[in-house]
Amino acid sequence: MTPPLKSAATGVAPGKVILLGEHAVVYGRTAIAAAIDRQVRVSVVPQAVSPRVVCGEGSARVEAPFALNLFAPKESEPSPQATRLEQATLRAAAILGIEAHDLRIEIASDLPTAVGLGSSAALSVALVRALAGFSSQVLEASAICAAAFELERLFHGFPSGIDNTVATYGGLVAFTRNQTPRHLDCPQPLPLVIAIGRAPRETQAAVRALRQRREADPQAYEGWFDEIADLVSGAEDALANADWRRLGGLFNRNHTLLQQLAVSTSELDAMVDLAQRNGAHGAKLTGGGGGGAVICVHDGDRTPLLAAFRNAGWQAFATDIHPPDRGDHARPERRDTRPAYARQ
Ligand code: PMV
Repeated sequence: MTPPLKSAATGVAPGKVILLGEHAVVYGRTAIAAAIDRQVRVSVVPQAVSPRVVCGEGSARVEAPFALNLFAPKESEPSPQATRLEQATLRAAAILGIEAHDLRIEIASDLPTAVGLGSSAALSVALVRALAGFSSQVLEASAICAAAFELERLFHGFPSGIDNTVATYGGLVAFTRNQTPRHLDCPQPLPLVIAIGRAPRETQAAVRALRQRREADPQAYEGWFDEIADLVSGAEDALANADWRRLGGLFNRNHTLLQQLAVSTSELDAMVDLAQRNGAHGAKLTGGGGGGAVICVHDGDRTPLLAAFRNAGWQAFATDIHPPDRGDHARPERRDTRPAYARQ
């Protein structure tokens, strides 16, 4: 029986950074990731509510407010973004056992898209939460995470599951494929700068190309993955002691190994170099690579580093990774960090 439907419902989920261990995590090693204070918000409303035109605020590369009317006659060829969202909505509705017709899906986000900050996972989790709310279902976090993983597969092919795990539980997470994620703690907020590259990229392509390279030389690649795993255990220790200098060194070393895996680019290397020359303890690419973002640990005044990035033409922002409040992992929406256009 279809559960009772509400008049409207909203779901929210945060973006993430992978602190260390991307790509190696696909091959069974542990990676550490953390939620950031940027979010995707999905609202589900019955389509009978007349569509309103939503137009973008927010800077370039930040997802503008976006809306989709399922099954409404399409005036023109739908964008790839609309097609993927429609597929994801239908899949989520099927998982939740609700009929997806006559729905309007509205998205507001202050998370840059397609740069390795987990926008598709945040969208997946927020969509599942919104549809669950809309159909008056109360889901366990593990069920939300599992449903979002199914949607991530539509977006990414063969994801490890790290992105939807962090988007679901928030906080700071040590993730190993097919194991229960471990929530990590650190005694102080971790001060980061995130800078965003200009080159377009796609995680699925980076993961696929790396798989081919690894097949040609498994021994070398497995050795590099093991080295990355050692850095990840060192980072758990550095985080537990808020030792940002040590963590920075581990970032630098992880970036070098990502270069060896051939997932960095000259632009990302230049960004890491700029961070290292402007007071960061260390920096690395984050996420799938082949473009995207870099993260830098910097526990001093971050203004000069932000200015250096911006003067060189890269968007950058400071963010602090907060140790999770006890028992608060499944409620990443606890702080209203939405952009002005989404608060209304
Ligand atoms: O979605 P991204 O770009 O943050 O990359 C995810 C991290 C990878 O390890 C490269 C892939 C995965 O599914 O774990």
